[in-house]
Amino acid sequence: MTELRPITRQAENTLALAKYPEAQPHWVADMAFATPDAIISAVRKRIEEGHFSYPNIPYSVYESIQHWCKNQYDWSIQKEWIVIVPNTISGVRTAIKSTCPQGTVMLQSPNYNKLLNLSKGFHLTPYTIELTDNGRPFTLSDLRHIKQTNPSAIVLCNPTNPTGIVSIQEELESLALSIKNLDTIVISDEAHADIILGQRRHLPAGSIKGLENKSITLLSPSKTFNLAGISIAYAVIPCPKIRDKFKETQTFYASGINALGLVALESAYFNCSDWLQALLQQLKSNQKVLHTTLRHTSLKYKPSEATYLAWIDTRETDGDVFDKLLQAGIAVSNGEEFGSPGWIRFNFACPQDQLTTATCTFLDLFRNIK
Ligand SMILES: Cc1ncc(COP(=O)(O)O)c(C=O)c1O
Repeated sequence: MTELRPITRQAENTLALAKYPEAQPHWVADMAFATPDAIISAVRKRIEEGHFSYPNIPYSVYESIQHWCKNQYDWSIQKEWIVIVPNTISGVRTAIKSTCPQGTVMLQSPNYNKLLNLSKGFHLTPYTIELTDNGRPFTLSDLRHIKQTNPSAIVLCNPTNPTGIVSIQEELESLALSIKNLDTIVISDEAHADIILGQRRHLPAGSIKGLENKSITLLSPSKTFNLAGISIAYAVIPCPKIRDKFKETQTFYASGINALGLVALESAYFNCSDWLQALLQQLKSNQKVLHTTLRHTSLKYKPSEATYLAWIDTRETDGDVFDKLLQAGIAVSNGEEFGSPGWIRFNFACPQDQLTTATCTFLDLFRNIK
């Protein structure tokens, strides 16, 4: 069985620790596990070539992406559909810039803060769909609103951050149907696509009937293999017209691909499936421990289908839960950042001992007294 290696972070070189140097980091969405050895070796070999000239994107990188999309999502894609981008968010911004610099953009809330604030910096009117109580995206009323609003773009986050929901086929097909007669483009940020903890399979937007030629799907090995600092992602765009416009816009506004990112991506996608399975086992176990612990507290938590982010309801707990945790040495994210005050987001992608420190703190501070 592949072993996961814990890492020790330093405040000088990791955002996770720099923001709250005195606290154990459970806020930013990266992991306290080392990147798989196969990726480290591939990157080391590339470094030893001794230069970082402008990279060419080798055929093998496209092949590795095709291989991954087929294996992970049962999605057969053509090489031509793939556009390498510097990172997921730059890909989302290029998608907006190239397809709909004006008009209305539909977004879900709560949402990853960089998506929630996406309309800033563009001449776009945001239209926010509140996720319903059970958290599912696209209720009938949302779909009706789409038809009435005629948005230039619908930006999906699937699986959702912070709520960890995986969109199902019916939801995505209903979405496709609702924009059938509109010029709306679906821009789907699927950065968390590989961190699936429940039974559902991830379905990329571009694989859905009716969305193939109306979508830009953004994927990345960044969350899956702890590569955020190396910065690499890709867009899958089956429609040639949308793709050409995207490429033209990227050349102008967001060019610059990391040579090491390409090497890391290829190695991850060809060599690290077993490592991912080991990671998912650990995350499922951590999620269970967290759930069991929080049942004994005033904090409300329902384990999610995806991501290593726990979305926790603190509204029935007295005082500022974020502050209390920080004072006790546990740094989480404040739900306000994602559009939901009264909630916190807790990253459980960490080794057992760190999780135990956090769960003991939860119990010390918030244990239910019967
Ligand atoms: C949904 C989502 N998209 C994008 C990102 C950032 O990805 P990248 O670093 O590749 O831009 C994050 C990071 O947390 C995220 O949660």
